[in-house]
Amino acid sequence: MIIISDTEDIIKVDGLVKRYDGKTAIDHIDMRVKKGEMYAFLGPNGAGKTTTVRVLSTLTGFDEGSVVINGYDILKNPREAKASIGVTQQHISLDKDLTVWENMMMHAMYQQIPKAQREKRIDDLCNYIGLGEYYNYKVDSLSGGWKKRVSIVCALVHKPQLLFLDEPTVGLDIQARRGLWDLLRKLNGDGMTIFLTTHYIEEAESLCDRVGIINHGKVIVEGTPAELARKIGTATVEYYGSDHKTIYRYFQSREEAHAFAQTLGDEYTVTVRNTNLEDSFVEITGNNMGDNGFLGGGADKPAGGMGKKKGGM
Ligand SMILES: Nc1ncnc2c1ncn2[C@@H]1O[C@H](COP(=O)(O)OP(=O)(O)OP(=O)(O)O)[C@@H](O)[C@H]1O
Ligand SMILES: [Mg+2]
Repeated sequence: MIIISDTEDIIKVDGLVKRYDGKTAIDHIDMRVKKGEMYAFLGPNGAGKTTTVRVLSTLTGFDEGSVVINGYDILKNPREAKASIGVTQQHISLDKDLTVWENMMMHAMYQQIPKAQREKRIDDLCNYIGLGEYYNYKVDSLSGGWKKRVSIVCALVHKPQLLFLDEPTVGLDIQARRGLWDLLRKLNGDGMTIFLTTHYIEEAESLCDRVGIINHGKVIVEGTPAELARKIGTATVEYYGSDHKTIYRYFQSREEAHAFAQTLGDEYTVTVRNTNLEDSFVEITGNNMGDNGFLGGGADKPAGGMGKKKGGM
């Protein structure tokens, strides 16, 4: 067994609370992310993802709790904590009238990179990310995928160890999204810890070691995609009848799923498949299971017990 000590937690959050005008956006979150992990934060609109990213990356304050980044408490040692962090926000914050190069130089100046090092630092990063040929393009003339890359270079210019990405691939076409995934894998493979938020479940499933799901400001479940699937049952029966309303039932084994499928009449179109992260997400956020004992013992529930029986079955 590999024992991972506390010091390997690059993000340590305890009892975090953030309120806006008395309204709670983050409600007592505890969280750990290990160095080198790629971690996805999922949740419905308004769940608290952006607020969490903004607090953890020191862009906004908080009301209760503690946040330690790379060993530094962000209130007591903000400068050291910030040096570890790169962030790209949900809405790209580049100057669209400046060129790619000028935007990057501005960020390098903002990050107080010594003048003698700026050009080389940006050159190296652009070559690494594959942006070199776009140096002289105005940001406004770039497609969304390339704008994202520029904002990632800007976020990396001070060599952070931890990169926050708030919905990095929203609005991108499939090719651009996959290109960005490759880049994130490359960064992560070279040792960067990545914390991203997304609404694309397949993005989290394909990229990330671990997933946290937030709803109404609370982290209601965390684990690998496979662990989350096990919580609701690893085998899924998906079926619909003449009303085309699809029903999902979850089971702890393929055998149990097949046995259930056999009981369905010929009027149903039935698929038996592995449970995926999207099933877990919909079940967990839809049922708000974090509040009713789901976290403790989902995997031990009787077969099919987590499934919803709908449509008069
Ligand atoms: N600047 C703000 N002032 C007041 N309330 C805010 C502010 N920012 C966020 N909120 C509120 O905090 C809650 C969490 O919002 P947040 O933007 O963190 O959600 P999100 O999970 O990122 O949603 P989305 O998926 O739509 O991006 C929401 O109720 C939102 O209305
Ligand atoms: Mg958001």
